[in-house]
Formats: sequence, structure tokens, C-alpha cells
Amino acid sequence: MSQAKIVGTGVYLPGKILANADLEKIVDTSDEWIVTRTGMKERRIASEKETTSFMGIEAAKKAMEDAHVTTDQIDLILVATLSADYLFPSTACLVQAGLQAEGVAALDIQAACSGYVYGLSIAKAYVESGMYRRVLLIASEKLSTITDYQDRSTCVLFGDGACAAVIAKEGKGFVIEGVVLGADGKQKDILHMPAGGTMLPASRETVEQRLHFIKMEGKEVYKHAVRRMEAAAEQCLQQIGCREKDISYLVPHQANMRIIESLAKRFEVPMEKVFITIHKYGNTSASACGIAFDELVKEDKLQAGDKVLLVAFGAGLTWGAAIVTKEG
Ligand code: ACO
Repeated sequence: MSQAKIVGTGVYLPGKILANADLEKIVDTSDEWIVTRTGMKERRIASEKETTSFMGIEAAKKAMEDAHVTTDQIDLILVATLSADYLFPSTACLVQAGLQAEGVAALDIQAACSGYVYGLSIAKAYVESGMYRRVLLIASEKLSTITDYQDRSTCVLFGDGACAAVIAKEGKGFVIEGVVLGADGKQKDILHMPAGGTMLPASRETVEQRLHFIKMEGKEVYKHAVRRMEAAAEQCLQQIGCREKDISYLVPHQANMRIIESLAKRFEVPMEKVFITIHKYGNTSASACGIAFDELVKEDKLQAGDKVLLVAFGAGLTWGAAIVTKEG
């Protein structure tokens, strides 16, 4: 059976930059603390007009152009996001309307920062089963709207941005060789947004208590992130019968430079083969892996046969790893 491939990618990043120096004026923090603890220097912040769907649409147009396909050749639209435009309808439906992809099936994926890797798995399954010929996978996040700029422990971490990929059997690109996914719902409280859903609907109290923002127990999340990403990457290597030495590039979730460094060490990937965007964009949740992958591809460093390991981790908890190989 022929395998699904990523045959085109695209990215959209807002123009506005929020640097560490800007955050120093908002909360009690310092450039030195942020750089040492996270590796972040700046992040992008979307304007009012740059909604999650708007950024997703722009990234999607670029991915379709890159793949040399038009909207009428797309059979399914997936949008990975935790910062949807609305609770309902789905952001995927708004993207579908924006792209004028009339009648095309559209659905959101809620796997937090692992959304892009979850999306690759779903797209691969649909394409390889023959159910859909071409899937447009988008990850888009407007985290600035759910970030509490009074909380220094989280507000320095997050940024906005979107990425997209076209997944199909036809066309040249990156074969999705293997994907591993996982989740642990018991850890839901260590990274979440308490209010705004049906569990705790929006009210004056929830707004006053600032419960519509990201809450995170950083140290706990950190521990799980390292353990789960290592295990997922290991399983993915086993799934396709590869060893650490076969990996040419590592594209990790861009949450913390120290987590990235320990992953690189574990998988024996030298730091020059680890693709990092954290200093420029911070943590863009579902979009982070896809934005980094697009930049790696566009830098034209990859040779035919190179294997890229994408590995992500996020709220849920969720995690996932994928290995894609550049075609000759
Ligand atoms: N500036 C200055 N000081 C700060 C800041 C800040 N921005 N934030 C916290 N501090 C202080 C704390 O108050 C604490 O002070 P204290 O010792 O006086 O109490 C001290 O710095 C240490 O705080 P910690 O939280 O222990 O710092 P840590 O080294 O753990 O770094 C961080 C925090 C960067 C959040 C880290 O824990 C981390 O990266 N966690 C993982 C995040 C992650 O992987 N997320 C992925 C998923 S994201 C998603 O799904 C949306």
C-alpha cells in the first residue's frame, strides 16, 4: 500500500513582535530569566483581525500553493487548535468558508500542543484508507487571547501563529512513515483553562477570578513532557524499525529549550540538527511543530532519504511523535 505524504507546507505569522523587554514592562520578569529558563526571546501577537481562522486560511493558501493544488482538490479540512474562534461552530468550518471549499468536510482537532502530530496521524489514516485523496491539515493558535498578562509564570511563554500541510499519496514530498499518539486525561488539571466550557460556564465570577486564561503547573508539566516525548519518539522509531542514528533532524515541540536539549541528548541528535524556533515565536501550541517543520523544509537543508522526527506534548495530557522521510 502506498503511503501518505506531506506534499506542501505553509505558515502564517502575525507581524507584531512581543519581545522579552516588552514583557519586563508588563510583569515582574527579566530577559535574563526568560532566556535562561525557556530559551525564548520574542513571540508574535495577532491583531484583532488576525483570528485563529484568518491565520489558518492564510497558512492553508501557502501550503496549497506549495503543493500545486487548488481548493477544489481538497477532500477534508482539519484544524488543530485549542484557541478556536468559537466553542462552535468549528474553526475548520470557518476556514472552509474562507477558502470557498464548498461542501468539503471540516473538523477541529483538540489535542492542544500535540495537535499537528495528531493531525498527521488522522490525515495519514484517511489518505491511506482511500477514503479521502487530499487532506488539508491546519494548526492555528491565537494564544494571546487566553494568556493572562498578569501571570508572569505563563504570559512569557505563549505566542500566536499558524501552519498548514497538504497530505496526499500523489505528489512529491515527505512520506509519513510512522506516527505514535498518546494521552493521559488523569493529568487534566496541570495544564488547562478552567472556565468557559460547560463544566464552568462563563459568569461574572469566572471573569473576576481570571479563569478564562491558561493555568499551568510548570514543573509538573515539565516532568511529564520529557518522559512522554522520549517514550513516544522511541515507540515511533520502533514502529518503523529505525534507530536513533537514522534520524537526520529533530523537530520538537517548542515549549522549553531545556526540554528540547534533553530530548536531543537522549536521541543522540547534535544540536545543529535540532530545528529550533522557540527564540523567535515562543510556544505556539498546536502550530509549533508545523511552523518549525515548514522552516526546516524551506531552508533547503534536507537531502533525499533524510528522516525528520517530529515530537510534541501538550495539555490533556497528550503527546505524539511522527517520522517523515524526504523523497528522492
Ligand atoms: N520571571 C521571573 N520569575 C519567574 C517567572 C518569570 N516570568 N515565572 C516564574 N518565576 C519565578 C517563580 O515565581 C519562582 O520563584 P520562587 O522560587 O521565588 O517561588 C521561580 O521563578 C521558579 O519558578 P518555577 O515555576 O519553578 O520555574 P521553572 O524553572 O520550572 O520554569 C517553566 C518555569 C519555564 C514554565 C517550566 O516549568 C516549563 O517550561 N514547564 C513546561 C512547559 C511545557 O512544556 N508546556 C508544554 C505544553 S504547553 C500547552 O499545551 C499549551
